[in-house]
Amino acid sequence: MMSRFSLLAGSLLSLTAQAQAQNGSYIQYSTVTGYFLQDEPSTNATTFDYTSTNFGLINRTYPSDPCGYGSTNLTQWQRFTRQVYTLNLESPSNIDYKVLFMGRHGEGYHNAAQTFYGTPAWNCYWAEVDGNGTAIWADAHLDPAGIAQAQTANAFWAHELAVQMIPAPQTYYTSPLYRCLQTANITFSGLDLPASQPFLPLIKHGLREGISIHTCDRRSNRSVIHAAVPSWPFEPGFPEYDQLWNGVTAETSSAQAVRSKKVLDDIFGADPSTWISITSHSGEIGSILSVLGHQPFSLNTGAVIPVLVRAETVKEQPSPTTSSQPWTVSPHCTSPPLTSINNGACVCQGSAMPVTTTLPGSGPTYAARV
Ligand SMILES: *[C@@H]1O[C@H](CO)[C@@H](O)[C@H](O)[C@H]1NC(C)=O
Ligand SMILES: *[C@@H]1O[C@H](CO)[C@@H](O)[C@H](O)[C@H]1NC(C)=O
Ligand SMILES: *[C@@H]1O[C@H](CO)[C@@H](O)[C@H](O)[C@H]1NC(C)=O
Ligand SMILES: *[C@@H]1O[C@H](CO)[C@@H](O)[C@H](O)[C@H]1NC(C)=O
Ligand SMILES: *[C@@H]1O[C@H](CO)[C@@H](O)[C@H](O)[C@H]1NC(C)=O
Ligand SMILES: *[C@@H]1O[C@H](CO)[C@@H](O)[C@H](O)[C@H]1NC(C)=O
Ligand SMILES: *[C@@H]1O[C@H](CO)[C@@H](O)[C@H](O)[C@H]1NC(C)=O
Repeated sequence: MMSRFSLLAGSLLSLTAQAQAQNGSYIQYSTVTGYFLQDEPSTNATTFDYTSTNFGLINRTYPSDPCGYGSTNLTQWQRFTRQVYTLNLESPSNIDYKVLFMGRHGEGYHNAAQTFYGTPAWNCYWAEVDGNGTAIWADAHLDPAGIAQAQTANAFWAHELAVQMIPAPQTYYTSPLYRCLQTANITFSGLDLPASQPFLPLIKHGLREGISIHTCDRRSNRSVIHAAVPSWPFEPGFPEYDQLWNGVTAETSSAQAVRSKKVLDDIFGADPSTWISITSHSGEIGSILSVLGHQPFSLNTGAVIPVLVRAETVKEQPSPTTSSQPWTVSPHCTSPPLTSINNGACVCQGSAMPVTTTLPGSGPTYAARV
């Protein structure tokens, strides 16, 4: 499995780089529906609680169920595990099924501040500064509510492992933003995990939140991250400084979708695991879901969504062209707006026009990347 994908990454693409419609291999993703409530159109994401619904796993029979399975007392997760194993066994070598458990970080100080100030004032001013003197939200940490949400996820995993015999993740990935480091750390601490599958997440830049001019989207230096979680590995080439956040322009959703496809290609191309944990953000998980062809499903802070993914490697075909919009400037105010205006545009104090440069004091400015 690994050699198949690294051949693609290593030779085919580089030989034909720049070609308009190059013939290489690419991975086509889809969500296999019918297994989880989260991919049913009738499920309301706002009120959905993954902890009271067995992660959303639908009670059903599978073609792979053993004869008379009812008398064997296999749990729904044990039978689903057999089903996923069977799907992989019976599919051709260019088709791979994986289950992604994607967890959104618990509530951070930036989430609380957005609620406190209201979204317009947050977007137009407060999100561009590091904090308000009481709370700091640059690379926000979890607030007490967010820590409690991660503890809920931890207790739920403990329950599912012990009662449902759910397969423990075989590999773990996390966004480099601090709120995700904390969430993953709390969620998977103290669990009865197999010794061969330790909780040691790989820190991947591609899992970070959509990069706006908000200081909560600027990551800490690598050395700061390393000091917080010294045993966790970084993906190769992870730089000391954040080279993407610039405080002036914001990643567009199409550019983010290209990044999400790339991070999925990285993971599916190199990781033979079937059961994978990803800790990330609402915007980034939403972007990954769209690449996977999953219906939109907005996660509440601290919530986890499992997705059964079918990945098909299509060979020797022109890969579909993906276009992405360049990053755009984000007009904002240099002092708090007097009122919150709900039309999405910033209305600054007095007759001040919104600015499109970075704010003094909002941190270092790096070269804009488009
Ligand atoms: C790419 O593949 C298509 C379909 O197999 C083929 O018709 C076409 O000639 C190929 N193009 C190149 C540049 O190899
Ligand atoms: C989902 O639930 C929320 C909260 O109860 C409600 O406001 C919303 O209308 C519901 N959405 C749909 C599509 O039913
Ligand atoms: C599945 O069935 C069990 C009882 O057998 C029930 O407790 C649980 O709520 C059901 N789960 C779903 C998602 O319907
Ligand atoms: C399955 O569970 C039922 C009820 O808990 C029990 O009576 C039965 O002996 C169990 N069967 C097996 C094969 O363990
Ligand atoms: C700063 O923001 C927090 C919300 O994150 C709020 O609770 C606090 O009261 C604010 N401090 C000031 C001085 O307004
Ligand atoms: C991770 O968990 C360990 C053990 O509970 C703790 O000592 C450490 O401070 C945590 N680190 C972070 C970044 O939350
Ligand atoms: C990263 O380190 C540099 C050099 O020490 C420092 O100037 C900068 O503020 C740091 N960046 C962040 C986001 O803390």
